[in-house]
Amino acid sequence: MIEIRDGFYALHTLHTTYAFRVMETGQLEHLYYGRKISLGDGSSLVEKHAFAPGNTIAYDQEHLNFTLEDMCLEVSGYGKGDIREPFVEVICDNGSSTTDFVFVDAAEKKGKAALETLPSTYDVSKEAEQLVVHLRDKNEGFLLELVYSVFPKEDVITRSAKFINKSDKPVRLTRLMSMQLDLNRSGYVVTSFHGGWTKEMNRYDTTVNIGKFVNASYTGSSSNRCNPFIMVSEPDTSETMGDCYGFNLVYSGNHYEAVEVNSFEKTRIVTGINPTNFAFLLAPGESFESPEAVMTFSHEGFSGVSAHMHPFVREHVVRGSWQHKERPVLLNSWEASYFDISESSLLRLAKMGKDVGVELFVMDDGWFGERNNDTRALGDWTPNTKKLPNGVAGLCKKVNDLGLAFGIWIEPEMVNTDSDLYRAHPEWSMEIPGKDHSEGRNQRVLDFANPAVVDHMIEQMKQVIGSANIAYVKWDMNRIISDYYSQYLPKDRQQEVAHRYIQGVYRLAKELTQAFPEVLFEGCAAGGNRFDLGMLCYFPQIWASDNTDAVCRLNIQNGYSYGYPMSCVSAHVSACPNHQTLRVTPLESRFAVASFGVLGYECNLCDMSKEDLESIKAQIALYKEYRKVWQFGDFYRVESGNHYQWNVVSQDKKTAIGMIMQREVQPNTMFKKYQARGLDPAKTYHFVGLPRKYNIKEFGDLVNTAAPIHVKPDSLVHNVLAKFVKMDGETEDYLCSGDSIMYDGVKLKQSFVGTGYSDEVRHFPDYASRLYFMTEE
Ligand code: GLA
Repeated sequence: MIEIRDGFYALHTLHTTYAFRVMETGQLEHLYYGRKISLGDGSSLVEKHAFAPGNTIAYDQEHLNFTLEDMCLEVSGYGKGDIREPFVEVICDNGSSTTDFVFVDAAEKKGKAALETLPSTYDVSKEAEQLVVHLRDKNEGFLLELVYSVFPKEDVITRSAKFINKSDKPVRLTRLMSMQLDLNRSGYVVTSFHGGWTKEMNRYDTTVNIGKFVNASYTGSSSNRCNPFIMVSEPDTSETMGDCYGFNLVYSGNHYEAVEVNSFEKTRIVTGINPTNFAFLLAPGESFESPEAVMTFSHEGFSGVSAHMHPFVREHVVRGSWQHKERPVLLNSWEASYFDISESSLLRLAKMGKDVGVELFVMDDGWFGERNNDTRALGDWTPNTKKLPNGVAGLCKKVNDLGLAFGIWIEPEMVNTDSDLYRAHPEWSMEIPGKDHSEGRNQRVLDFANPAVVDHMIEQMKQVIGSANIAYVKWDMNRIISDYYSQYLPKDRQQEVAHRYIQGVYRLAKELTQAFPEVLFEGCAAGGNRFDLGMLCYFPQIWASDNTDAVCRLNIQNGYSYGYPMSCVSAHVSACPNHQTLRVTPLESRFAVASFGVLGYECNLCDMSKEDLESIKAQIALYKEYRKVWQFGDFYRVESGNHYQWNVVSQDKKTAIGMIMQREVQPNTMFKKYQARGLDPAKTYHFVGLPRKYNIKEFGDLVNTAAPIHVKPDSLVHNVLAKFVKMDGETEDYLCSGDSIMYDGVKLKQSFVGTGYSDEVRHFPDYASRLYFMTEE
């Protein structure tokens, strides 16, 4: 609900209020963002200022009572006394950078309008409302349009801005943020997520008492270095308690989030396009739109923020025919065979996949041009007939005949210099003519700031995807950008390249997803180098990391879960030793972790033991049975010492699935309880673990404590015994109330500690995990 009264504006969601007012001088004073409140007459929310302190700038001669440096503001320019992170920066025709934006008008609108030049959130529920505020720069007459969108049910407010050059001279826009939030105290903790290739989404908490914390990407993508999702919370905020803000950006290019505390102990948070290497030249009448910033508040800690962000992303970001559809279990060829593929080997793998219950077979890299390694052929999107004598269509038909859907890998934004495309169009690659180019994965980035290049790729990709009965596309992007330069743009527009590039990517994504509305698109950028709300406007799921190690994945998926729902996180079970870490983890744990995302397999099933194949078959059958809950249920993290503890709960709260997994085993810590969250406290649940059998080899020479004869470890006798004698694992089977599972937890069977092994004991070595199923009685 939007409340407007005497220059006061309040945006109310179900549980939050965001308020600002027009000051006597015309600037917008930010008043409040937090738990839902009533405005009253607003006077208690207004900051009281009788004088501007020494060595500050008084705004003007009529208002010597305050300085902009000490005000909470909705937006700020630069040069009128506010010396913090500006919202907007320009270089005017006269060389000045000073702007002073003051109120013109404001209007409410029903519904949620789309942005014109970028992907944006949407609303079909007809519950969203917008407030559009216009401000005019007193010096040059530039117009600033601030758009606030209110999503009541999810407790989310989004913001974006449009700068319109209403002057009669050109202007260079050097910064336009999406969101600015000034809070009237300091000492907040910024939670941000950092990493790199195969180590995405590590959580960091930084207290900002003074100065500035910046979370920004310079890679040309939203990046695995710094995901654009951040949280800002009161110190001591936990999973379930404490005031916590969440911010994200519907943008996939270079982004910037700064949290700054000034000497008046006020905190300013800005989010938007990274102003480094950014400038847009705007002729009179031209405008520039900033991406949409998403914000939420919860007094229920990090989980409160996640509980707002997850349904928001599911309902107002992800769209298209796969939005609510259960995603297929896929088998991907990459870790099974890398570039070494052929029609016959792929079909062998697909057939194995079919036998264990896979639904979709994906041919990864290596299928086109002379693509035998990563040094060549990107750009040449015709099938390699040595590997695929019957082309993509022939292979696809045979895969379909096995009863599987067929998917394909593409990397449309890239080119190798050793390709026909580069030889024909060297000027289409992003590079500075006559200068050395810095390569990444032996490839270059196509100049998507040039519309002709995007047009060409639309054609190429339509041909590829239309060439066969393709049901799934994995869209990769394997390097970060260097040597930013478009040979299409004049020299005074080179700072526009990064933004125009990502707009080109969006145009290609839009064209392809519209042309093939039934195809399931999965985003990928060497794993999670472009995991953001911009891509999720086109692709309902993203390959979260090239790291498939279950232990690493725990941390990576846990990181994503703060801001993104698990229906967006694609996760695969792979072979052991793991290809990224050489770590060995139980197959059961690899499945347990991957099942909390969109499950796939990425391993050479043809080389697997019969026992493992049987386990995989059972895993896939189980996943299919509970897939809806796993993919679209509400996800919870439960804080739990050295264990990771997750659970998902169906929307009707009748079914829940929980998981515990530990890293290194701690000896003599036998007691453990399993706690879930989000259940119906009044319901009674049947709580069960999966039945389990152990291979006696897992106990090494401890077999001799039970065997009537001496068994030499790994001897023939040991192996024969292992084949025929399986040991029963513990059972957990209880009838319990939802409230007891949540508030106390289920006390589990004791874990193994060297003595007393029986089927009443939880065998729980390094990286062991358990899945628990809770169904309403
Ligand atoms: C990237 C992806 C992988 C795989 C390879 C193929 O690294 O993240 O999953 O598709 O490219 O080259």
